[in-house]
Amino acid sequence: MDKVIRNATEKDVDIIVKMYLEEVENNQQRAQKFAKDLIYRYKTNICVSEKNVLGTITWDTRGGLDDGIIELVALGTRSEFQRQGVMRELVLSIENEAKKYFSKAGHKLRVIYLFMEKSNNTGELFYSHMGFSKVSEIPAFLPKDDAVMWIKYF
Ligand SMILES: CC(C)(COP(=O)(O)OP(=O)(O)OC[C@H]1O[C@@H](n2cnc3c(N)ncnc32)[C@H](O)[C@@H]1OP(=O)(O)O)[C@@H](O)C(=O)NCCC(=O)NCCS
Repeated sequence: MDKVIRNATEKDVDIIVKMYLEEVENNQQRAQKFAKDLIYRYKTNICVSEKNVLGTITWDTRGGLDDGIIELVALGTRSEFQRQGVMRELVLSIENEAKKYFSKAGHKLRVIYLFMEKSNNTGELFYSHMGFSKVSEIPAFLPKDDAVMWIKYF
């Protein structure tokens, strides 16, 4: 299977909506909002094969550029394509992109962090594998669970 990783653009709204409807829930309005947030509100990379989205990763800077901090806002691989290295490649792609982003402004990427539901065992295995460390638990931070904060320092 040929996979391509690239920035998500306005041309990708329809394929992201399709992925949301098939993978997350059958709700057009929320699918449209999801796709538009990914493209216009944040920075998002997608992994595509033919016209199917296999996975997405969304990030944004936090604080001033001199802080060198980004947050992973959301990420996911479609269930049928999990355990095939899709998210590993997506994380590496945004690490490289964020390094260039800060470097252009004369700064450095120092930290990537994210919040995860405490009960997400697969997420735990994945983030450990990618070199993140669990630094803190935050009670009742997320609507359905406590949160765990994961950090990777550069
Ligand atoms: C977590 C998630 C993003 C991983 O995506 P993925 O594309 O399947 O991950 P990769 O194939 O790149 O996995 C890289 C490594 O992570 C670890 N890993 C990932 N999924 C795993 C699993 N189900 N069981 C054990 N280890 C796992 C392994 O070390 C794996 O390397 P290996 O396959 O060579 O052993 C995916 O399971 C997912 O989308 N889950 C639902 C959404 C979610 O939890 N998002 C994160 C919310 S914060």
